[in-house]
Amino acid sequence: MKLDTVACIDDLRRLAHRRVPADVMGYYESGSYSETTLRANERDLANVNIRQRVLAGAVNRDLTQNIIGVPAALPFALAPVGMSGLAYRDGEIAAARAAEKAGIPYTLSTLSICSIEDVAAAVTKPFWFQLYFMKDRGFIADLIARARAAHCSALVLTVDLQVLGQRHRDVHSGLTVPPRIHLKTVGRILSKPSWVANVLTGKRKTFGNVHGRIPGTENLASYRDWIGSQFDQALSWDDVAWIRERWPRKLIIKGILDVDDARIAARTGASAIVVSNHGGRQLDGAASSISMLPRIADAVGSDVEIMFDSGIRTGQDVFRALALGAKSCMIGRSYLYGLCAAGEAGVAKAIEIIAKELDVTMALAGVRTIDQISKSTLEN
Ligand SMILES: Cc1cc2nc3c(=O)[nH]c(=O)nc-3n(C[C@H](O)[C@H](O)[C@H](O)COP(=O)(O)O)c2cc1C
Repeated sequence: MKLDTVACIDDLRRLAHRRVPADVMGYYESGSYSETTLRANERDLANVNIRQRVLAGAVNRDLTQNIIGVPAALPFALAPVGMSGLAYRDGEIAAARAAEKAGIPYTLSTLSICSIEDVAAAVTKPFWFQLYFMKDRGFIADLIARARAAHCSALVLTVDLQVLGQRHRDVHSGLTVPPRIHLKTVGRILSKPSWVANVLTGKRKTFGNVHGRIPGTENLASYRDWIGSQFDQALSWDDVAWIRERWPRKLIIKGILDVDDARIAARTGASAIVVSNHGGRQLDGAASSISMLPRIADAVGSDVEIMFDSGIRTGQDVFRALALGAKSCMIGRSYLYGLCAAGEAGVAKAIEIIAKELDVTMALAGVRTIDQISKSTLEN
């Protein structure tokens, strides 16, 4: 299958598995433990029924939306995805460029392969930087200063990963950072020659932002141990104030799944919160993200902007989340599959697919603008 015959995100996913070694795909695809929450995210979204409305004159549809006060061409952003640069050579640059061309925000992960400076040099508009809070305050302050110097317009503080939920496939994996061919992986890697030629011969293969800080990430198990020792489990809401002092621009708090937490987050002065369970990668057994969205939106939607992620694979899913109270969404794996399949062109394809699906859904639901998508556009 070629990119021009790709019809949906699932097609991109199939192409991704064809091109990228199983150990890397395992890291991208997995949810934590029994993957109950991972499955629930997609299942519960699919169970939200959209009202079909006919002859409603939904012409000249407008998909633009303001996200944290900035006009965006579409009501979604690209979520931070660690190790995107192992999907495709300079993957974070490719994704950032595709987002810029599509007129939507791109979020660079702390644990990216390309560094903040690499991405800043490759785009012309500001992107967002996602921060994981580590014990070494000097290092965090330095990362924040680097994001400021790179003109990042928002800091996305991820609060749902102070310990790592285990993903079983990562335990079995032979993936190392930088990736290397060794006895355990030789067959799986050499069966993906275009990935070898593209990623393995590339210049950037380590964690660009934390290079030299992660001792011995020989494999995903030692990476997990590093997170266990460096991520600050004692992080509290007081530390958000510490970040605020160093980051005067917009702050987004990502990883909220509880009404009480949402209330506290709204009081921090953040521009937005992201209702998210990290794509089912952290607390297995947690509710699906979409099932929590209406309660959180009811509780704090008038105090803070609500973003939503976890499970979005279609434009219909974006519509569902907007109808249930989100002002905008983030997509994770949906664009990652595109990146794996074809780099920047693949990410552009993923964005285009979701945008077109959203547009057709709006037409068939009798809606012309994003603001008209509300609970009344859903079946009860
Ligand atoms: C492979 C992978 C890596 C991720 N890395 C990060 C990360 O570095 N920082 C972060 O805040 N979230 C990370 N996430 C979570 C995403 O930002 C987002 O919340 C999630 O992918 C949304 O679910 P979806 O993939 O079903 O769209 C990651 C997700 C995946 C799939």
